[in-house]
Amino acid sequence: MNYKKIFIKIANELATFKDNGNVANYIPELGTVDPSKFGVHLTTINDKHFNFGDSNEKFSIQSISKVLSLVMAYNFEGEKLWKRVGVEPSGTAFNSLIQLETDLGIPRNPLINAGALVISDILVSHLKNPKKDFIEFVRRVSGISTIDYCTRIAESEKSTGYRNTALINLMKSFGNIKNDIDIVMDFYFNLCSIEMTCKELSQTFLFLATYGISPYTEERILSKSKSKRLNAIMQLCGFYDEAGEFSFKVGLPGKSGVGGGIVAIYPNKYSIAVWSPKLNKKGNSNKGIQFLELFTSETKTSIF
Ligand code: DON
Repeated sequence: MNYKKIFIKIANELATFKDNGNVANYIPELGTVDPSKFGVHLTTINDKHFNFGDSNEKFSIQSISKVLSLVMAYNFEGEKLWKRVGVEPSGTAFNSLIQLETDLGIPRNPLINAGALVISDILVSHLKNPKKDFIEFVRRVSGISTIDYCTRIAESEKSTGYRNTALINLMKSFGNIKNDIDIVMDFYFNLCSIEMTCKELSQTFLFLATYGISPYTEERILSKSKSKRLNAIMQLCGFYDEAGEFSFKVGLPGKSGVGGGIVAIYPNKYSIAVWSPKLNKKGNSNKGIQFLELFTSETKTSIF
């Protein structure tokens, strides 16, 4: 299929799309990004590449990295991981505190902030040099040795991270955070600060389209069964309180970040990454979702 032609067709259709979203600015550094950026890159499981727009510009992948930290923690812990974090859609905002008290400090799923903080705590327990070991894992999965954290963004988030500090303290009071809070927070802010281009992002996530095997190194990153479960979690929880809407409109497992990136997987076929920084009220890329809805309709590649 000539995906490039389809990208151009959809971009033309969206030329008149009135994007009334806003760039995230609760992390001050994210607020400096040019709102008009738009990029898309699709990588097939046979390593064919199709792109459009600003697809080779780095952006902050933010919460998208929660999938990668989950992969690593799942491999360390196996099924006992689910004693400390659930697999249910939360139906609440990504940084919500509401359910956490009645759920006795067990986050609904690993892709909301509370869940990603527990996953970060687990990785801090397992890794000798958490930041170094994690970024090496991401580089291995993607086959790209230059992927890195952005210290400027991590520090910027740290300076305004009151909500995450509240979440982690609440969970610590329930005994679901084992390590020093500052160490876990520093690790979490760094993993959210990772920068990638659309091309790098779609390549990094391709192993979830190939049932757990990295097409670049042929290394098994996840077992087939765990890889299916990861896609199920993305399908149900990847877009917070908009996960239902994303399934309804796009029909692929995926994950968003407040940097305006979205990655989505069509198992056994492709991984696609889009980037458009203006977010809707749920914190997901406004134009990104719109683009993917038209793309999966045009290509008939919803998994349903
Ligand atoms: O913790 C935060 O608020 C950010 N580092 C990540 C939030 C995020 O990307 C949520 N995504 N839609």
